[in-house]
Amino acid sequence: MSKRTVKKTMTIILSSIAALLIIAFTSLFIISGVFESSKYLEPWQKTYSQKFDDPRIQLVAHGLLAANGHNMQPWKIQLDKDDPMVFYLYADSDRLTNEVDPFARQMMITQGAFLEYVKIAGDERGYKAAVELFPDGGYDEQNLRESMKTKPVAKIMLTKDKPQNNPLYDSMFLPDTNRAAYQSDKLTAEQIDQLENINTDVNMSIKIFQDQENIEKLGSYAMKGATIEAGVNRVMQETENIFRSSEYQKNKYRYGFSVEGQGTSGIMRHILQGLVTIFPSLNSGQAASDTFIQSTRTSVDNTAAYAMIITNDNNRSSQVKSGMLYSRLILTAHSLGLVMQPLSQALEEYPEMKEPYSSIHRDYASDGGTLQMLVRLGKPAKEVPQSMRRDVMDLIIRE
Ligand SMILES: Cc1cc2nc3c(=O)[nH]c(=O)nc-3n(C[C@H](O)[C@H](O)[C@H](O)COP(=O)(O)O)c2cc1C
Repeated sequence: MSKRTVKKTMTIILSSIAALLIIAFTSLFIISGVFESSKYLEPWQKTYSQKFDDPRIQLVAHGLLAANGHNMQPWKIQLDKDDPMVFYLYADSDRLTNEVDPFARQMMITQGAFLEYVKIAGDERGYKAAVELFPDGGYDEQNLRESMKTKPVAKIMLTKDKPQNNPLYDSMFLPDTNRAAYQSDKLTAEQIDQLENINTDVNMSIKIFQDQENIEKLGSYAMKGATIEAGVNRVMQETENIFRSSEYQKNKYRYGFSVEGQGTSGIMRHILQGLVTIFPSLNSGQAASDTFIQSTRTSVDNTAAYAMIITNDNNRSSQVKSGMLYSRLILTAHSLGLVMQPLSQALEEYPEMKEPYSSIHRDYASDGGTLQMLVRLGKPAKEVPQSMRRDVMDLIIRE
């Protein structure tokens, strides 16, 4: 072959490869839904709540930005028919995650997280929100699912007030959970004071740890919890069922998990979404278990501090109150330039987790208290994208 023919053949091969790559990437982008507008992010816009005249809906539109277990957003709102300043929050029993949260404890924390956002938005908007927990009495625990349908978690009563600048308000619009690596900087004594002192309830406490011994111990609980969870099929399956692999799915469901949860954004988001849509096995079964363990490893290896919320008892009101406290903790941390990620596995109540559950409680709540939240916190090394949120009107019960 002459030099010229070789050159020509090479050019044809290279252009064919380039053409194939362009086709492959374009297909991935189309499958990912690159042309879809991200409706599932609309609630994060600061102007979103202003689309609604009813102040109750305006506040609910803020509440749904709160952190919540498995991003199920299990909140239902009943607007009082007679009093335009009253509404009720119900736990949405169609959105339970029974495998990972068999006693619906995280479900209650999630209700509290919502309520605190409502209160803070109320301050800012000039509606003081008084919250009465379980106004119709506690749940029938033997009949929990049905009981959630009939008994509200909270009655929220608004009174018109002067709008007050709540220093936590702006932080509500930041992504709640950062699962990426954090910087190695320790928290300052002042930051620790500020965070621990946001709790004023004698039945609860916030504890922050950043000494080497506790960092190692808590990291090892997190790893043990993740490793056990990764091996429990039904729990992993529950998570897998709510994974949304493309923009179409994210707009359709607007709850659950997506690749953004691991901090993926920009072009990589579409490449990954395209790949996972074509090859679901990349994100299921053994691959999902391996990814979960690996990402927990990265988390614990890049964590300089942990925080805990501990309650003296474990009744439903305490669970809800610890969710309210968790929201204040996240927002205060954000206002200090810090971020968080819960690492809940060792605190979960399903049988396979019994050993680390008992052991972590022996170590950190030896007087019979309950660890409601275990989170890592620190200075972010990387910003992460916002996650899906439902349309506020989907939360409103319509008769
Ligand atoms: C009770 C509770 C438990 C949670 N447990 C975990 C956890 O174990 N690991 C994790 O990465 N995120 C955990 N989260 C965070 C949620 O997954 C997150 O809030 C939700 O997916 C919405 O995403 P966002 O917080 O970034 O808006 C938990 C949140 C709550 C309220």
